[in-house]
Amino acid sequence: MDTEMPAPAKEAAGRAAARYVKSGMRVGLGTGSTVHWTIVELGERCSAGDLRIVCTATSMRTEDLASSMGLEVMTPDEIGALDLAIDGADEVDPQLNLTKGGGGAHTREKLIAQMAPRFVVVVDETKLVDALGPFGTPIEVLDFAPGVVARRVQALGAGTVTEREARSDNGNLLMDAHFGTISDPALLAGELSRIPGIVEHGLFLADMVERVVIAHGDGSVREITRSEL
Ligand code: 5RP
Repeated sequence: MDTEMPAPAKEAAGRAAARYVKSGMRVGLGTGSTVHWTIVELGERCSAGDLRIVCTATSMRTEDLASSMGLEVMTPDEIGALDLAIDGADEVDPQLNLTKGGGGAHTREKLIAQMAPRFVVVVDETKLVDALGPFGTPIEVLDFAPGVVARRVQALGAGTVTEREARSDNGNLLMDAHFGTISDPALLAGELSRIPGIVEHGLFLADMVERVVIAHGDGSVREITRSEL
């Protein structure tokens, strides 16, 4: 499989997922270069008068993009509940567990995905993996005792835990933990959630996911729905 996917595949996946958005919906908008195209498609349909929706955004850059496309963006508290959330992912395993947080937005992304009964994921085929882990597991960490947190993550089996230069939109530190192959994402997700000082980790378990829209390098787009597995 290619490690570099041409941008048209991201555009194809992103635009294809917009078909699940219908007038009157409250929509959670994810972050990244694939869901970028979902937001563009939604903006174009709204500008043409074909769609009427309200949105909430998982990052400041998504809020800026959505507003620039003419979409109405509210805070999560203002919008209250969602009908659908759409977002990208860094890894998708065969059960549809995800790694997210490559863009450091996973805390807001998880919060918003969990506000919606339907979570649609958009990726190109390079994101499909046999098991989560090679990308690393993003972790948002309070800037209080990052060394203590990193050591606890290492005690769970991470070979290395690296700190990013960039912070999250929430002002917190971002780290990447490298566990190698993650054999039990649910177990690891529970263990990471129990470490005080971790604001959120980037393991999104399959029970959140309705479907994954996947674009291939040849231009084709297919979907995997969790109920089919
Ligand atoms: C940001 C994310 C993104 O959804 C993920 O990194 C995928 O991004 P892209 O579509 O640019 O590959 O989790 O925190």
